[in-house]
Amino acid sequence: MKSEGLPLVEGLGLEDIRQVQLAPWRRTGGKGAFIHLYGMEGFTGMYVGEIPSGGALEPEKHVYEEVIFIFEGNGATEVWQEGQKKQMFEWGKWSLFSPPLNSWHRLINGGREPVKFLAVSNAPLIMDLYRNADFVFNCPYTFAERYGGEETYFNVTNKRYRKGLMALWETNFISDIGSADLETAEEKGAAVLITQFEIAANCLIGHISQWPAGRYHKAHYHGPGATLIGLQSKGYVLLWPKDLGLRPYQNGHGDKVVELRWGEGGIYCPPGGWFHQHFNTGNSAARHLAIRFGGRIHPTGFSIAAKRHDDGVLVPIKKGGTLIDYEDEDPEIRRRFEATLRREGVASSMPEVAYT
Ligand SMILES: [Fe+2]
Repeated sequence: MKSEGLPLVEGLGLEDIRQVQLAPWRRTGGKGAFIHLYGMEGFTGMYVGEIPSGGALEPEKHVYEEVIFIFEGNGATEVWQEGQKKQMFEWGKWSLFSPPLNSWHRLINGGREPVKFLAVSNAPLIMDLYRNADFVFNCPYTFAERYGGEETYFNVTNKRYRKGLMALWETNFISDIGSADLETAEEKGAAVLITQFEIAANCLIGHISQWPAGRYHKAHYHGPGATLIGLQSKGYVLLWPKDLGLRPYQNGHGDKVVELRWGEGGIYCPPGGWFHQHFNTGNSAARHLAIRFGGRIHPTGFSIAAKRHDDGVLVPIKKGGTLIDYEDEDPEIRRRFEATLRREGVASSMPEVAYT
C-alpha cells in the first residue's frame, strides 16, 4: 500500500466512504485511497477508487479475488483472458461484480460525473504469501475453470437455493444491491432477510441483508475480514470481544463495548471473535451489503473454524453456534435501543415474543 502512494484511512469503521479524500493513482490512471479497517486483520483489504468523467482506468489483472461495488456513477467493464475476446457489461449505482481471478479488466466511466467504487479483496493474504507484486500483477496463468469467456457470464441470474440455513444466490453480477430480492433469515432476527451471493467462483463472497425499522439483529461473531456497508436507513452497531461474555454490561465491561454509527456509505469491520449487533434506528427498512469470506460453494478452512459450525452465525451459542438469542442477551442492549428510538421518534417494532 505504501508503494502506491495513496492516502490511507484507518479505524474500526468509517462514517461515510463518500467523504474519503482521494489522490491521483498513477498505476490505475484514476484516483484512490486505501482503507484499513482493524477487523480485516490481513484477510481482506480495501480501497475507494474513482474513474474520472469521460475516462477509463488502466487494464489490470491480479491473482487475488476482488469484489467491486459501485456507489456513484455508471459505466461499463471490459473483461478478457489473455489472448481471448473482450466482453463488456454495463453497471450503475449500487451494482456489484467481481472480475474473475487473474482476468484482465478495465473499468470505463459512462457518465458525466466521476464514478466512485469500493473494492474489497483478499490481496493482503496473497501479498503476504508471495511477497512479489510482479507475480501478483503479471502472472501469465489463465484460470479457465473460473472464466472461459462465456457470453452470459455477467448476466444477473436467478439461480437461488438454500444450503443449510443460508439462502444462496449464484450470480456474477448484481445490477442494484438496493432492489435485489432477498430471502427470510428468521434465525438472525425477527423479519430479517439475508441472501448470500456466491460470485465469480470466489471464496470472497458476500451477502445483502434487510430488516424493518425499529428493529435489531441478534449479536453474533465469526472470523475477521467481513466488511459491512450501510445502504438504506441509519443506526448503530455494537461490538465487543467475546471474552467479555454474552452480557458485557452486566459483567461490568460496558465501557469496553464499542458503538459505531452507520448510515448510507457507513462501513465497519468486526474483528475476528468480536460479537457485533446491528441496530436500525431510522424510520425505514435497513439494508446492508457485506463482503466477506464464508462461501458455501468454495469455503475456506479458517472461516468454518471461526464459526465452529457450518451454519454457525445462524445457530444460537447454546446449540453450538455463535449467535446470542434475544432472550439470552444483555438486558442493557434492549434498554439502550429503546432509549435511542425514543430520542429519534421512531417506534420499536421488536415483537415481545422474541424475548421469551
Ligand atoms: Fe457478522
